[in-house]
Amino acid sequence: MSSRLRVRRSVRTTRTVVLTGLLLAGTALAPMASATPTPLYKNSHASVTSRVNDLMSRMTLDDKLGQMTQAERGAVTPAQSAASKLGSVLSGGGSVPTPNTAVSWADMYDAYQKAATSTGLGIPIIYGVDAVHGDNNLYGATIFPQNIGIGAAHDPKLTEQIGRATAEEMSATGVDEDFAPCLCVARDDRWGRTYESYGEVPGNAVANSTIINGLQGKSLDAPGSVMATAKHFIGDGGTTNGTDQGNTQISDWELRAIHLPPFRAAVQRGVGAVMISYNSINGLKDHGNKYLITDLLKGELGFSGIVISDWNGIDQIDGQSGFTPAEVAQAVNAGLDLFMVPNDSAKFISTLGAEVANGDVPMSRIDDANRRILTKKFQLGLFEHPYADRSFMNTVGSAQHHELARQAARESQVLLKNDGVLPLAKKNNKIFVAGKNANDMGNQAGGWTLTWQGQSGERVIPGTTILDGIKSDAGKGTTVTYDRAGNGIDSSYKVAVAVVGETPYAEGHGDRPNGLQLDAEDLSTIAKLKATGVPVVVVLVSGRVLDVANELPGWNGLVESFLPGSEGAGVADVLYGDYKPTGKLSFTWPASSAQEPINPGDGKTGLFPYGYGLTYGKHRNDEN
Ligand code: GLC
Repeated sequence: MSSRLRVRRSVRTTRTVVLTGLLLAGTALAPMASATPTPLYKNSHASVTSRVNDLMSRMTLDDKLGQMTQAERGAVTPAQSAASKLGSVLSGGGSVPTPNTAVSWADMYDAYQKAATSTGLGIPIIYGVDAVHGDNNLYGATIFPQNIGIGAAHDPKLTEQIGRATAEEMSATGVDEDFAPCLCVARDDRWGRTYESYGEVPGNAVANSTIINGLQGKSLDAPGSVMATAKHFIGDGGTTNGTDQGNTQISDWELRAIHLPPFRAAVQRGVGAVMISYNSINGLKDHGNKYLITDLLKGELGFSGIVISDWNGIDQIDGQSGFTPAEVAQAVNAGLDLFMVPNDSAKFISTLGAEVANGDVPMSRIDDANRRILTKKFQLGLFEHPYADRSFMNTVGSAQHHELARQAARESQVLLKNDGVLPLAKKNNKIFVAGKNANDMGNQAGGWTLTWQGQSGERVIPGTTILDGIKSDAGKGTTVTYDRAGNGIDSSYKVAVAVVGETPYAEGHGDRPNGLQLDAEDLSTIAKLKATGVPVVVVLVSGRVLDVANELPGWNGLVESFLPGSEGAGVADVLYGDYKPTGKLSFTWPASSAQEPINPGDGKTGLFPYGYGLTYGKHRNDEN
């Protein structure tokens, strides 16, 4: 043995003796190590994959069935949710704690998480809400313009900022998942969810899928991030006659050309979940369509996140109410992972368990679904931080977010006609304002605001009405008079502004198969104003383009405001020219309801084409 080798061995021997001594001393001095080692899945330094594998190895079938089940908060208490090992809880539209405050939401959320993490394997829940234009269930949240107006703004960076602001306000309440964005491509304006669409061509939704980055931030576990849900896969905006939850009769080529690109973009942006649509494709309900969910979404697009059903979506597969064992098996085998069964979680769990036991649903599908769900829970950081991040409380309804909402309202206005009546002179003017939507926060916000359907009401949410903006922006020597019906107007006024359009609705309640005309109240109000000979500017607050071709010649100006949200003052900024209109229609405007559906390239000539929108000249009236 060479001397060098001998030296190395003696050193090694010495080192071994020393190390052994230290270890023994260490052991003798340190307290006894805990008997049971921390399970790998609770080790935040371990890879997500290894944590998922470890956790799944510890789960029973009941654990796994529970993880695939989502119940409504009104149907399960925190204790019941934990006892059933539910993977998720949601608030449907308007399902709110009392009082409806951010602190109350956070307390409610924390109660569900505390129950979930202190039983069994301690798996946290995912809590989901529809925050589709701000955290709109929460009173005091900033309410942004609905998607149809954001589509007209053509400002994807703004959309991302709205996503971030929404996620911050949601984070204060604890909520982990946003059932948004709707990436629907609305092809028939009679559809009640047209306002949830960014536009009638896929490019609008593709461009505004930036909201996913805003919602999800740099990573799902980053402060202020929530998981986004691209919805509704697929074809919801293409149903015959625009019937909500109806049948989309379409070739595979057309489906891929029109309705698929937004979901491809969402997957590329790393969207955490995708919600399946109620509609059918050529007679087969999406919720039971394996080609769509497994082959197209999970296979071709490579989506590795959670596929969630819509509210009781599996009930519709066989066209009968309620769900059957066959429907459960068909939906699970089609590729759905998480089931929104708001009031039937126990029945769903037992039915699915029976379908596994009889071999109709393979364990491989159960495991795939659990793997997807648990992966997102680890990526969300829920095992480390299961409770609401109350450091975001001061973002709820913050001045900064309201300024963003006002900017979004400005950019979403589309000027469609102007004979010189706009912009309004700020100084030495005499303005008459009328119409049911001039002074109504509920009407300018639209559906999915505090409640599922939304509601009319002057001050149902904090913010500024359009009338507030017209009054507060008025300059020296200007008077502003308001009367909803137009009573009191006379020829002494220099201009009249009629703010009319639609009242709130959501989903099928907003379908308008009988046409898109203005209602009798609006027509009467406008007529009263016109009878005095005073120039009339019409501002439409609506969830879609409307049938106004017959009335338009009698109007001096027309602005489509869509549903501007909390900050009606942003609309006034455009009316006064403080912000020159930049909005461009993301929907073809029909010359009559009979033209529906009307879209680019279909050979029909509408009243205004896709992309239309005017602006003001160099000078403003009050500078003339
Ligand atoms: C609704 C909608 C869907 C929403 C879900 C939960 O029916 O179709 O967009 O996310 O139920 O509220």
